[in-house]
Formats: sequence, C-alpha cells, structure tokens
Amino acid sequence: MAPIISIRNLTKTYANGFQALKGIDLDVEKGEILALLGPNGAGKTTMISIVCGIANPSGGTVTVGGHDVIKDFRATRSMIGLVPQELTTDQFETVWNTVSFSRGLHGKKANPAHIEKVLRDLSLWEKKDNTLRELSGGMKRRVLIAKALSHEPEILFLDEPTAGVDVTLRKDMWHVVEGLRQSGVTIILTTHYIEEAEEIADRVGVINGGQLLLVEQKAALMAKLGRKQLILDLVEPLEALPDCLQGNGLSVGDGGTTLIYDFDTTHEHASIAKLLSRLEEEGIHFRDLSTRQSSLEDIFVSLVGGHK
Ligand SMILES: Nc1ncnc2c1ncn2[C@@H]1O[C@H](COP(=O)(O)OP(=O)(O)OP(=O)(O)O)[C@@H](O)[C@H]1O
Ligand SMILES: [Mg+2]
Repeated sequence: MAPIISIRNLTKTYANGFQALKGIDLDVEKGEILALLGPNGAGKTTMISIVCGIANPSGGTVTVGGHDVIKDFRATRSMIGLVPQELTTDQFETVWNTVSFSRGLHGKKANPAHIEKVLRDLSLWEKKDNTLRELSGGMKRRVLIAKALSHEPEILFLDEPTAGVDVTLRKDMWHVVEGLRQSGVTIILTTHYIEEAEEIADRVGVINGGQLLLVEQKAALMAKLGRKQLILDLVEPLEALPDCLQGNGLSVGDGGTTLIYDFDTTHEHASIAKLLSRLEEEGIHFRDLSTRQSSLEDIFVSLVGGHK
C-alpha cells in the first residue's frame, strides 16, 4: 500500500539563514503510530509544520494521501489533525465553541454528537461551557487535542501532547490515542518521554540537527541497538580481568567484585553457556547473576549524546 505520508529530501532554511532540516526522507504507513524523538531544536516541529502546510519547505516534496501539501493544501490539511506544541487558542471562547468552530473551519458539517464524544473521551465534558481561561494548563492541552479531532482526521500529529500533563491524564490521553489507532487513524507524535514512545509506538524515528538519524520498528531497534549485560557477583574479587579472558565482551566492575559480560541479544543462550563453562575452567566462581537490558532511553542517549 502506498504510504499515507511521503517526505522526500525535505529541507528548511529559516529567513535568518538557519538550516533546520537537512534533507529528510520518511514514509509513514496508514494506521501506524510513529514516535519522533530528538533533543530540543532537532527540527521536529519544523518538519510537522511543513507536513501540515503551515510552514513552507525550502526544498523537497511532501505528499499526504498522494496529494502535494503545497499544491493541494486544502485536501491535505483536511486529512490532518494537528495538536500544536504551543497553546494558541482564544482564551475567551468556551470549550464547546472552540472545538465546534474548529470542525467548521475544516469545511465539515456540524456534528454535535461527534463533538460530545470527543469532549467526553478527553474528560472535558464537565468543562464544555467554561471559557479556556478558566481551565488548567493540562485541560487547555486537552482542548487542543479535541480541536484536532473535531473534523475526524485520518492523520493526527501530536507535537508533545503530554508536556505539562499529569500522569492520570497522560494515561487517558494514550487511551484515546489507542482508540484512534484502532479506528485506523495514523498517528505521529513527538515526545521527550522516551518510555512513552517505548510503550505506544510501532516505529520510532530519531531526529537530531535537522537529520533523521534512523527510523525503525521499535522491536527491531531494540534488538539491533539494545545491549544486554550479564552481571556475575564474584565469590573472590578480581583485581583485573585475566589475560585469557580478554576481548570477549568481559569487564570487571564494582572494584573487582563483579564480572560484567556485554552480549548482543541475538546469540545470548549459546554465548552465556560458553562463558560460564569457561569461567568454571578458570576457577572463577560467582554467587549470583543478574541481567540488565538497555532501554530505548539508553539507545537514544547513545545516538544523540554529545551531538547537540
Ligand atoms: N521561525 C524560526 N526562525 C529561525 N529559526 C527557527 C524558527 N523556528 C525554529 N527555528 C530553529 O530551527 C531549529 C528547529 O526548531 P524546531 O522547533 O523544529 O525544534 P524541535 O525539534 O521541535 O524542538 P523542541 O523539542 O524544543 O520542540 C531550532 O534551532 C530553532 O531555533
Ligand atoms: Mg518542537
């Protein structure tokens, strides 16, 4: 199936000469959840703004549902719901009106039942007659989500939707996102909470310095870059690693009281069995063993660390 979003060699240089995107290529499949990770200033919001047609690219092309985002702006924009990073809503309007107007702006006929469902799903129903200035920060953020869902978009961009949102609400929000995915909505989100990406995304992309460093199925990424460590608590501390054990992914830790074995997750059983019998031969005994696995966060830090 053709990708629902297709980005080719996308570049963006702002008016002041700053190059925020340096040639991004990305396809997004219909119905997937893609999480974009990247440090502050990586180019995430810039990329999203271009796909949504609210910023112009300097070079390259973007299509949404097969339509060019510049030439067919109205067609592509109506397929997309955008939850922006910044709060930019009229503070004196009520929740109900804000969300209903937003549907109208996308050229859709009024549908109070849909608006009611959206507000209820986001726990905003009680506040529907309040003006936005009467809401808390987290509630305002949920109004932005309600607005983005008001016109039943096929694609939803969530640009850091959970910044400043408490744990319960964050869970509610992911519940809504999961429901949308089940109804076939494609979701692209940015987040600084890596565990969130780890939990919810099908694929993860990492952006840094205007470049997409990688985009992979989450499971493949973890298997490819994720390392595991086996930690052996030694009966007798070792001053240093014996020469005969050098170069096998082994190191001595905690002042000689542990032996640490780094291995990749694909060959673990065979290599651990071999290691243990080798230690036996060398007379190195241990009283306990445990494993540690690198998380998406470790992978992310190792990819972008030091390159800010
Ligand atoms: N209007 C603008 N004019 C000039 N530079 C800009 C403009 N908007 C953004 N930038 C720069 O482009 C780079 C990318 O910004 P962008 O907002 O896309 O980052 P981001 O990945 O969304 O970061 P964050 O995680 O902080 O939201 C930054 O260096 C930023 O300073
Ligand atoms: Mg941003």
